[in-house]
Amino acid sequence: MAGKCTVKDIVAMKAQGKKISVLTAYDAAMASILDDAGIDILLVGDSLGMVLLGYDSTVPVTMEEMLHHARAVNRGRKKALVVGDMPFGSYQSGLAEAVNNGMRFMKEAGCDAVKIEGGEEMCDVVRALRRAGVPVMGHVGLTPQTAGQLGGFKVQGRDLESARKMVADAKALAAAGVFAIVLECVPGELAGIVTRSISVPTIGIGAGAECDGQVLVVNDLLGMFEKFTPSFVKQYAHLAPQIGQAVAAFRDEVQKGAFPAAEHTFDSRVDLGSLLAESDS
Ligand code: KIV
Repeated sequence: MAGKCTVKDIVAMKAQGKKISVLTAYDAAMASILDDAGIDILLVGDSLGMVLLGYDSTVPVTMEEMLHHARAVNRGRKKALVVGDMPFGSYQSGLAEAVNNGMRFMKEAGCDAVKIEGGEEMCDVVRALRRAGVPVMGHVGLTPQTAGQLGGFKVQGRDLESARKMVADAKALAAAGVFAIVLECVPGELAGIVTRSISVPTIGIGAGAECDGQVLVVNDLLGMFEKFTPSFVKQYAHLAPQIGQAVAAFRDEVQKGAFPAAEHTFDSRVDLGSLLAESDS
């Protein structure tokens, strides 16, 4: 992609058979690294509540927290499409509020699009956001904001009825105007059926290789979130233990007086002999 990635580019990638890479990002420094590495979409996921802010779920995450991190991600990106994840409670209690919050991601944080969780029941929200000029990414399968209703963090669509509903949900969302749909924790074969039944891209997380793209939480990929690692995650690095070793080495050197060494210390540019004499007297 030559210029900045757009929603249209993402949709075109499916038609061109190009796989779409998506990672979460929560701050400017990481956004810049991921963007330079050629990631197509940076998702400011409400997963930040768990991997950064120490909440037990994504439910408590607020609009203000999301906007704060989305602004930072937008300062760090150059080419990638940035999608802001609408937090629980920001789009369920009325279309006007949903549209207002969706617009805030664009106006106040510089996002290109938003993501909402849910199937057919969310189509009126998708349509209202689209009418207001806010591109929307859908999210079906395991929807963490309402995981309690789904029986916990479990694979979805394992019986015929729920599999059929997932296909119907994806088709309804696509007809309502989403530009892509995240499929989370879905059997690979079902994800393939969903992918082939809609013209917009599917982005899988724990949904097998037949999706049009893949998303991971960046802290999981880097081995930086140690509370739990879902079985679908591939850790490409193990940074948490490396960070632990590095800071322990720093602590030891501070205690022993080995850090800072001469090369970490500034030279004085004047003769401080007189100051030394004054301070000694
Ligand atoms: O919040 C998030 O990070 C997400 C991805 C896991 C898709 O919704």
